[in-house]
Amino acid sequence: MSESTDVFEIMQTTRAMRRLRPDAVPDELIRKILQAGVCAANGGNTQRWRFLVIKDPKIKQAVQVYYKRAFDEWIGPRYLNSTPPPGVTKERYLRQHAAVEYLTEHFHEAPVWIVACIDDGADAPSRWTGASIYPAVQNMLLAARALGLGATLTTRHLRYEKEAEAALGLPEGVHSYAILPIGYPMGRFGPVGRTALADVVYEERWGNPYRDA
Ligand SMILES: Cc1cc2nc3c(=O)[nH]c(=O)nc-3n(C[C@H](O)[C@H](O)[C@H](O)COP(=O)(O)O)c2cc1C
Repeated sequence: MSESTDVFEIMQTTRAMRRLRPDAVPDELIRKILQAGVCAANGGNTQRWRFLVIKDPKIKQAVQVYYKRAFDEWIGPRYLNSTPPPGVTKERYLRQHAAVEYLTEHFHEAPVWIVACIDDGADAPSRWTGASIYPAVQNMLLAARALGLGATLTTRHLRYEKEAEAALGLPEGVHSYAILPIGYPMGRFGPVGRTALADVVYEERWGNPYRDA
């Protein structure tokens, strides 16, 4: 079943869905995703987030050029030389790499993008500002999943931040923090691959193993 309402099942199956069909996504579903985004926590509830919904193929294509350039120069070679992350088999990692390459080539073909931005004004983007947009991004990924839509949190365009943000037409002081390409997935939602809690959780003191219940 592609749609779900159980929040734990949704979290466990909200994977990066990089292979998307070109079929149009109804506007009311995008609106639901955005509505989920603005429910998120944000510092002081100042809501300096801004979301740019893009369907225009010309704009997406212009940004894809930088997304691909960053892959060719940086991500592609890095993937080839790295070992699988914790909790991920070599086979799964190779599949992920193929999917990353696929999205790179087809980034602009995703029917809708949501670009998550913050109006930073004169402030430089930082961990503080990022902390006020990524909860909204995660809410939108979960909402897309709940609606049976695929999406991926992408930030690679930031390698060419100035050029990509000019192509997106962002005004002075507004910065992008993620681009979510959204569409109906070609494949099926499956469980995420993650390492055991014991590998990443400590109890009381750093390095002290967490006694898993
Ligand atoms: C900060 C951040 C940036 C990311 N940027 C990209 C990206 O530019 N392109 C991409 O294909 N995936 C990107 N991802 C997705 C991750 O690669 C993905 O979440 C991770 O491999 C785990 O895969 P899963 O979510 O399918 O389990 C990004 C994820 C995060 C959290």
